[in-house]
Amino acid sequence: MFEEILSLIFSSSFEDPKHESGEVLGSMTTPPPPEVLKVVNHFISKNLGDPSLFRSLQIITEKLENITKEILHLPQDMKGIVTSGGTESNILALFLFRETLGTKKVLFPDTAHYSISKAAKILSIESEKISTYHSGKISPTDFKKKFPSTNAAIVLTMGTTELGGVDDPRDVIDNLEGVPLHIDAAFGGFTFPFINPEKYLSIISYLLKRDIEFTISVDFHKFLGAPIPSGMIFVPKELVDPLYFNGW
Ligand SMILES: Cc1ncc(COP(=O)(O)O)c(C=O)c1O
Repeated sequence: MFEEILSLIFSSSFEDPKHESGEVLGSMTTPPPPEVLKVVNHFISKNLGDPSLFRSLQIITEKLENITKEILHLPQDMKGIVTSGGTESNILALFLFRETLGTKKVLFPDTAHYSISKAAKILSIESEKISTYHSGKISPTDFKKKFPSTNAAIVLTMGTTELGGVDDPRDVIDNLEGVPLHIDAAFGGFTFPFINPEKYLSIISYLLKRDIEFTISVDFHKFLGAPIPSGMIFVPKELVDPLYFNGW
C-alpha cells in the first residue's frame, strides 16, 4: 500500500517540465545540489519555531541573518526574520505597519508582484496601484494624486517579476519621512547590490540617513541551488514586537 502511494506521488510529476533538461524557464527556482539536499534532509524534522529545543537552528539562523545583513549593507539595528518567501514577507511587512504605525492604505506601482494586493486584502488594508511609464518608472503625478496625507504606506520593488526593474524611492516622493516603506527585493535582493552596487548603496544610505522607517525582504530560493522555501525580511528592531507571538 505504502509502495503504491509513493509510486503514485512520483509518477504524478512525470509530465512536469524538468529543470535538468532546460525545459523550465522563468520559474525562479533551481534544483539544489546534493550537498545542500544533505543539509536539508538532516534538518527536515527540526522546527525553527522551537528554538530552545533545536538550538542549532537558532545559531544557523543568526549566522544567516548576519551574513545577509552584511551583503545588503543593512545596519545592526535591523532584525532579520526567516520566512517562506516573498509572499509571506510582504504579508509580514504590511501586518507590521498596520500594527505599529496604524497603516490603513498601501500604494504600490502597477509593476509590483500580485502578492502585495493579496497581503493588503488579507489584512483589510486598502490598496491602490500607481501608474508606471513604459520604462517602468513611476508616474509622480499619479502618485501625488493618490497618496493620502495620513496612515499610508508605500511598497516598492527591487527587481520586478517581469523585467527586473528597480523602483528608486527618490523618484516617488520628495519627503518620505514618516511614511512607512517596504522594499520587496525578493527577486533583486541578491543581484542588484552586485550588478549596480553604487545605485544600491545610494538607495540604502538615502533611506538610512533620512531616518525612513523601512523594511526589506529577500528570497534565497530565487537563486542558484537554494532550497525552497527560504526567505528573509529585515525590519527595524523597534518595530519587531508584533512579529513575536508569545502564547495566548
Ligand atoms: C518581486 C516578487 N515579490 C514576491 C514574490 C513572491 O515570492 P514567493 O513565490 O516566494 O512567495 C515574487 C515571486 O516571483 C516576486 O518576483
